[in-house]
Amino acid sequence: MNAATPPSSPSAAPDGHHAEVVAVAAERRWAVVVGLIIAVIILLMIFAGLHWASMPPSRVETVDVKTLHLRGEFAEGNLGTAVDADGKVTVRLIAQQYSFEPQCIVVPAGVPVTFRGTSADAIHGFIVGTTNANTMLIPGFVATFTTTFPKAGEHLMPCHEYCGTGHEAMWARVEVLPQEEFMARARGAERMNCVSR
Ligand code: CUA
Repeated sequence: MNAATPPSSPSAAPDGHHAEVVAVAAERRWAVVVGLIIAVIILLMIFAGLHWASMPPSRVETVDVKTLHLRGEFAEGNLGTAVDADGKVTVRLIAQQYSFEPQCIVVPAGVPVTFRGTSADAIHGFIVGTTNANTMLIPGFVATFTTTFPKAGEHLMPCHEYCGTGHEAMWARVEVLPQEEFMARARGAERMNCVSR
């Protein structure tokens, strides 16, 4: 055999068996690539599902600022605390430069209370004392959340979004009453606030 003759290389002398080996390797490589893409997509779906489940999206409920005071849910006669026939407690309030309406909110202790609020002008917000009741109030949108106040007492409820020159003087009060006392007062009252005791 001549030493100078190069050994037969794949490119020089492809045969049927070699072509099969190349094809199998390529198929395996692409199977891995496609498998990785599918795995990434499934992981994204799992992540998105868990994310949405753990971080409920803020609801988008709109309201017409121009007719806010005139009719509908936030007309003056509807503001304050209402107890529905099924016992659900709902507080409706409006924020405006530079006060809350009503100025004093009365709620029961130990019962879920749903707040529904909006703003008549600028962006406002409120937090009830040191509780987790905390939201922004944006004109044109209804902010709502449900919370339970564990014990009776009184809280300050300041506006916590800078809304203009009177911002620091904008606050209301929240009176948390023992459940029985609240329910006794709720009978016979359509809308409640601290003044109507
Ligand atoms: Cu309203 Cu700050």
